[in-house]
Amino acid sequence: MCGIVGYVGGRPCRDLLVAGLEKLEYRGYDSAGISLLADGRVETVRAVGNLANLRAAAGMDGGEDGGVAVAAPPATIGLAHTRWATHGRVTEENAHPHGDCSDAIHIVLNGIVENHSELRAELTEQGHSFSSETDAEIVAHLIERNYEGDLTEAVRASFNELRGHYAFAAMHAAHPDTLVAARQECPLVIGIGEDELFIASAIPAFLAQTRRALAIENGEVVTVTAAGATVTDAAGTPVEREVQDVSWDEEAAEKGGYETFMRKEIDEQPDAVAETIADRLPSRDRVDLSELEISPEVIAGVRRIVIVACGTSYHAGLVGRYAIEQWARVPVEMDIASEYRYRNPVVGSDDLVIGITQSGETADTLAAMRLAREQGATVLALTNIMGSQATRDADAVLYTRAGLEIGVAATKTFTAQVACMYLLGLWIAQQRGTLDDERLSELISELKALPHKIQETLDSVSEQVQAVATAEHEGRFFLYLGRNIGLPVCLEGALKMKEISYIPSDAYAAGEMKHGPIALLDESTPVVCVATDSPTLDKMLSNMAEVRARGADVISIVTAGSGRAAEDSDLMIEVSRTDWVLQPIVAILPLQLLAYDVARMRGLNVDQPRNLAKTVTVE
Ligand code: G6P
Repeated sequence: MCGIVGYVGGRPCRDLLVAGLEKLEYRGYDSAGISLLADGRVETVRAVGNLANLRAAAGMDGGEDGGVAVAAPPATIGLAHTRWATHGRVTEENAHPHGDCSDAIHIVLNGIVENHSELRAELTEQGHSFSSETDAEIVAHLIERNYEGDLTEAVRASFNELRGHYAFAAMHAAHPDTLVAARQECPLVIGIGEDELFIASAIPAFLAQTRRALAIENGEVVTVTAAGATVTDAAGTPVEREVQDVSWDEEAAEKGGYETFMRKEIDEQPDAVAETIADRLPSRDRVDLSELEISPEVIAGVRRIVIVACGTSYHAGLVGRYAIEQWARVPVEMDIASEYRYRNPVVGSDDLVIGITQSGETADTLAAMRLAREQGATVLALTNIMGSQATRDADAVLYTRAGLEIGVAATKTFTAQVACMYLLGLWIAQQRGTLDDERLSELISELKALPHKIQETLDSVSEQVQAVATAEHEGRFFLYLGRNIGLPVCLEGALKMKEISYIPSDAYAAGEMKHGPIALLDESTPVVCVATDSPTLDKMLSNMAEVRARGADVISIVTAGSGRAAEDSDLMIEVSRTDWVLQPIVAILPLQLLAYDVARMRGLNVDQPRNLAKTVTVE
């Protein structure tokens, strides 16, 4: 979830740009950079680590002199960026901005260029030379290739050659009064001040300077000068767009116009998953987790995988267990970290232990990981936070790239964790040769399509979910039933409901219903049944029939177009169709929204529920 800030106007802009980046820090980043154009030259400073390092490198705060610090006259046009590594390691060379061969064109990019390897090969063939491992640098060279004196046209031509989801902004030494940007799926917004304009990936970046904003839509190119912005579509046809007045205060700005962080984070899930899978699926037939630094021999020799985690991360692990066992045929044990660490577990050098913790600081998970490592197991941390304790305690680290999650109830970190577990499952299967090539590439294609399917599902389910919430928000109890891969979805859905709406809720393996929970059912009980397509769908449908026979209302979560649950449901909510093992990542979305809507209708603070903390560091 990189951040973009650009400025063109009459004021020296170095500090304005860095101040803008500071407002985007919540998106998460591992390096940052800034390019300023003055005197017909572009100067760049980049730094690994936080913005304090960039400030020092740029000669701000009295630090060492950077090129841009001494640029005279001070630049009044520039681009800045915070990067979260996807393609290429965390290095200064890979940080943005990136330049073309002549260093006249500089770009910053947020998102992923999917066809980067074809384009890189083509451009290399034509004599372009690259100085980074990133997909983003391709864009600078493409613009160079397409440039014939008109920067907007060069950007448009380049934009039309790219595939993926991204937003980028470019400047050219020969056009010291112009920035050009384009958007495909990643956010892009223009801030309009008095004789000065901003380009940003989110409004907070310029809110301290102007409250007038122009939203850029998918497939559009925008040319920005101090005098104004001109929006065109990918074919060059002008687009009329109204400038909006942003009425947000600082807190609302951080929420990006949403009422709560949780709702914003629910909507960030397509992006979080896209960033997480990005470069790890470099082609249709291969998963690349070489970043893990676990030798192929270790993976080939693993006897057992043990997953330890707490809370929502535990549920992500449960989904992962199904995926790994199904695809890689390695036995997986799942344990709650606070149980595992105190039960003198049998673990040793044949085991791979995966600690899942979005914060990387949960005391029980850290203790469970340490214990396993002391016993000789290979320990892998799955976390969202760079430099967290879990990353230091593990043999290898796999990062989710969900950006900072502020709402206490985990949402986007959950789906990003689940995406990582799918990647791991496929990678282990690939290393051990347990899937044939056709099935592997089928699953990779499905995985690549998930960000789109998450978006599609979020868009399509919201009205139905609201109707359920309206009908049930005063309820006394919610029951969630599922089988197989649907069960962790139920556990997570019920956890969301109890933690933010305070309505007692329980999740059960549907086959266990007859052993007790059936006694809870009456006409006032809403029963949420996860009945997406799977080998156990028929069994699930019989369970739903049993529930309805007791007068309870069945709200079913089903695979779009399946229709099989219609007879046994009072209300069906359809989620996008994908491979059955991948269904949880879309099936959870209506359950997150349901808990959210119910809690809001009850007037509760969903971002900070009572008695709960984002990270539990007390042993
Ligand atoms: C707390 C949070 C949960 C989270 C759990 C584990 O209870 O409220 O949302 O799932 O900790 O956190 P971790 O950072 O280890 O994933």
